[in-house]
Amino acid sequence: MPNNVQGRKMDDKTVQSVLIVFAMQAEAQPLIQALGLEKDEPPKIIGPAPCVTFSSQHEDLQVHVVWNGKDEETGVDNVGTVPASLSTYLAVLAFKPDVVISAGTAGGFRAQGAAIGDVFLGTAVINHDRRIPLPSFDKYGIGYSLCLATPRLQAELGLKQGVVSSGNSLDYTDKCMEIMGQHQVAVKEMEAAAIAWACNLYHVPLMCVKAVTDIVDGDRPTSEEFLENLHAAAAALQNTLPRVLGRLAGRKLSEL
Ligand code: ADE
Repeated sequence: MPNNVQGRKMDDKTVQSVLIVFAMQAEAQPLIQALGLEKDEPPKIIGPAPCVTFSSQHEDLQVHVVWNGKDEETGVDNVGTVPASLSTYLAVLAFKPDVVISAGTAGGFRAQGAAIGDVFLGTAVINHDRRIPLPSFDKYGIGYSLCLATPRLQAELGLKQGVVSSGNSLDYTDKCMEIMGQHQVAVKEMEAAAIAWACNLYHVPLMCVKAVTDIVDGDRPTSEEFLENLHAAAAALQNTLPRVLGRLAGRKLSEL
């Protein structure tokens, strides 16, 4: 029997529907175009929640995308943990997917074998910026959650894998780095742990598919490297996601 995000046993379903959660439009758009996903009209999620959903049927697989939408005040994408958990909560309620995928870009750790343009599968997620040194709150803060185990899919697609760590900053403090080192984090991003939290409420399994835009333990400024590689990483993601979906369709969770 497969595990859900907290390692509990869950039903061995056949995958018929998938929800992919994106923070940035630039990350979502190539896939929306490639798969011909249509914006859901009338909206499946009613405002004021800012997220936007897209859907289409691909042979035996119903594919849904939720993008966190834009911040009204600044006009930029709603990145970070708060919009990610809201979007996931509402989209899982609306679409009842068999599997959720947190997809997007991330910083990679050279120490864990990451290079620019690599696509990683998450084995587990943590938070590196929720430091609460009180009994049990310390564990809650880290929020370690297992991702759905997909050894066959990973081998078939030849993807790297590792722990994904989320925090609400593009940069990091020494303490963030210490926590990521303790958990042998391979990729650092800003949403997956929040998406895992919402998935766990519904007992829906989570996968993470993350394309590397910058090297966290490298020597270049993150923002410069991120902007330089965003479109190449989004293309790598768009090349990988349809192959991931192809391996999910019609397979039981335990066969992944
Ligand atoms: N997204 C892409 N690169 C990132 C990084 N280094 N930290 C957080 N989110 C990211």
